[in-house]
Amino acid sequence: MIEIRNLKKNFEGKPVLKGINLDIPEGKTTVILGPSGQGKTVLLKNIIGLYKPDYGKIVVDGVDITKLKKSQLFEVRKKFAFVFQGGALFDFLTVKENLALYLRMHLKMRENEIEKKVKEVLRVVGMTGTEDLYPEELSGGMKKRVAIARAVISAPKYILYDEPTTGLDRTNARAVNNLINKLKREYGVTSIVVTHDIECMKTVADQVALLKEGRIIFVGNEEEVEEKHLDYLYELEAEHAV
Ligand SMILES: Nc1ncnc2c1ncn2[C@@H]1O[C@H](COP(=O)(O)OP(=O)(O)O)[C@@H](O)[C@H]1O
Ligand SMILES: [Mg+2]
Repeated sequence: MIEIRNLKKNFEGKPVLKGINLDIPEGKTTVILGPSGQGKTVLLKNIIGLYKPDYGKIVVDGVDITKLKKSQLFEVRKKFAFVFQGGALFDFLTVKENLALYLRMHLKMRENEIEKKVKEVLRVVGMTGTEDLYPEELSGGMKKRVAIARAVISAPKYILYDEPTTGLDRTNARAVNNLINKLKREYGVTSIVVTHDIECMKTVADQVALLKEGRIIFVGNEEEVEEKHLDYLYELEAEHAV
């Protein structure tokens, strides 16, 4: 469980997060919906301790991470995996080597175990047989799925997705959304998804939080959002229409 309390973050005196309050329940997917430039990425970076907030608490399984030293933070961070917006695969490494990195460096797994684990996660993301390909040989959708495979391979408790469907066509976006649900089902992970994609929210969210001008203005399920904040959804759609 993650509890965010009155979280504030400024950049050069400009407030971006103005007092975020949100609970992230376990084993569920929380979608934080909001337009571009509103601090979604900044919020995720605060949750994994990459940024230090100016004010407030982030309590992860009972521990306020804003108070931790670097070495203690490093331990807590093992609970998290982050799927970056760009995918962030290493271009000079094959799919298998990209996936094996964590297992080799942090877990010191043996080669045959690594082989097995890589195969397993590639099967889960529907990418069986792509071990020896390089990122440049993959489509955008495939890269994203490898990035998700790399997130899940470290057996995280929490997976944070930054705009997982942005830049993908409908078919690939749908595949990624289904995958987020599959990881919840099969591994019981707790996920936080930040996005402006309403379709994504509808497909993956157990809980929706609406971000507006640096604050969470509403938390509820999809039906409640549609009932009480349809105007918010229309505005968001209009802003991101192409
Ligand atoms: N490292 C940084 N230094 C200065 N300003 C930043 C930094 N990171 C983010 N910002 C600012 O914070 C605001 C929110 O950014 P961001 O979280 O990336 O938005 P979103 O992910 O919702 O599109 C933007 O105005 C951005 O310019
Ligand atoms: Mg962002």
